[in-house]
Amino acid sequence: MENKMEWWRQTSIYQIYPWSFQDSNGDGIGDLQGILSRLDEIKDLGVETIWFSPFYVSPGEDFGYDIADYTKIDPRFGTMADCDRLFKEIHKRKMRVVLDMVMNHTSDKHPWFIESKSSKTNPKRDFYIWRKGTNKAPNNWISMVGKSGWNYDSQTKEYYYSNFLSFQPDLNYRNPKVKQTMFAVLDFWLKKGVDGFRLDIFNSIFKDERFLDNPFSFRFFPTPDNHDEAFFQKKQYNLNLPESFSFAKEVRKHISKYKQKPFLIGEVSGSDLVLKSFLGEKVDGLNLVFQFELIHFSYNAKFFKDLLEKNEKVFPSPYTPTYVLGNHDQRRYIDRLGGDIRKAKLLVCFQFMARGVPVVYYGEEIGRKEGRISNFFGKDPIAKLNRFVPLFLSNLLGIYINRDNCRLPMLWDDSNNGGFTNGKSWLPIGVIQKEETVSGQKNEPDSLWKHYQTMFLLRKKWDVIRVGSLQTISTDKKNVLSFQRSDKKNKIRVYLNFGNNPEQIGFKEKGKLLYSFGGSEKTENELFLPPHSGLVLEMGLSSKQ
Ligand code: GLC
Ligand code: CA
Repeated sequence: MENKMEWWRQTSIYQIYPWSFQDSNGDGIGDLQGILSRLDEIKDLGVETIWFSPFYVSPGEDFGYDIADYTKIDPRFGTMADCDRLFKEIHKRKMRVVLDMVMNHTSDKHPWFIESKSSKTNPKRDFYIWRKGTNKAPNNWISMVGKSGWNYDSQTKEYYYSNFLSFQPDLNYRNPKVKQTMFAVLDFWLKKGVDGFRLDIFNSIFKDERFLDNPFSFRFFPTPDNHDEAFFQKKQYNLNLPESFSFAKEVRKHISKYKQKPFLIGEVSGSDLVLKSFLGEKVDGLNLVFQFELIHFSYNAKFFKDLLEKNEKVFPSPYTPTYVLGNHDQRRYIDRLGGDIRKAKLLVCFQFMARGVPVVYYGEEIGRKEGRISNFFGKDPIAKLNRFVPLFLSNLLGIYINRDNCRLPMLWDDSNNGGFTNGKSWLPIGVIQKEETVSGQKNEPDSLWKHYQTMFLLRKKWDVIRVGSLQTISTDKKNVLSFQRSDKKNKIRVYLNFGNNPEQIGFKEKGKLLYSFGGSEKTENELFLPPHSGLVLEMGLSSKQ
């Protein structure tokens, strides 16, 4: 990188869900050796930073988000030697590694919790949050999954707190030993060279010390970017506490002494003000937070224009916005577009050309579709909790219950099981069509995979796309979004037509076409944009002001 801006502000992130990426030993579950065997293909796509969903020792009740040992590899994924090799091979290919760190809670099978639970006087008792309660939960706090966060333990006759599922007891960060222990975990991985951490439900780390009841709210349904008011409660005392904002700074400070200049990206939710508090008023908190607005996009130019303008206003440089279209908890965006690849290309061009860090979820590059597994048959613990809600009803209400459906195995080719496994896949593969696989798209100039590859390439090639400032540009066409990226050396202009009609835009400025898709063209005096097409122009020296 030729400029001075920190590397993590210029990178792009690719999320791998280890269960579903590539199986190497035929047990139907993805693993580290499998991932190793696909590194060249990932590199070929253009991936820069890989975020791995957890592969630590875990009973797997929440597929790794319930950790039973933070510094060991779960045997279903391989060994520590595989992991070391994986990191080495990633770095050899000039890519970077981000691990998922679930600091908020452990599995209830973690030895710390087993000890903690064993008696009120056990030294690990205070590793977790225990409260008395006479036949009644200690207060009204509702967890993120919509039930009381308090769980009664009959052995010691007290309640422990869990802000997610009951088998994920929350650690007690008011106990300095917990902090120390967790910092030691971070050190363990940082010494192995990891380049960053994705912090799972970091908004939940601290709970109110006084255990005050949460006030009432009229809202029932949470959204991906707002858990703070849900289930008729304003979660004032169990989410987004000021202590969590300061802890973000502490963690940042702790990791910043490492020479690889690691970064933190937090899974937090709430208003922009809340997100900004996590990032720190001096930009000294979490390096990045996921911004989930794109998860519920409206497919029109105005939505995207407003989002860009809002982010430039609220998160001006050196704040770095992130653009997330999906992850292992959300319905895949291609399904939200009715499978329309033209529209997908538009969204991706927006995501990669905007100022910030694009986050790609494995399979998005081939338009991997959602499964149709009912809530009843779901393996996902959230589905298990809501077994009897029919899929059509949860879809109708716009709530996402069975996360199995966005976690289906990667489709590499049109062989048996899409090249994912020789055995029986842990989740159904579904119908395989060659044009929906990596091998079916890699050599097709108009494929979605190629489009992603071009996007990665453009970012790599042009400093201005990674570090330049952003201005939206008014056109008189309401369905066309245009914005410009500029730095001292270059200007790049993007035009995207979200409409169902072709658009012609008078264009007399100098400009060189860098990339066009969906049939768009630039003639001497005009840009021509068919429905759902777009183009990227380099504005050339003469357009410099
Ligand atoms: C986060 C993860 C999700 C997990 C939960 C509990 O939201 O993304 O997959 O179930 O935290 O750890
Ligand atoms: Ca396997």
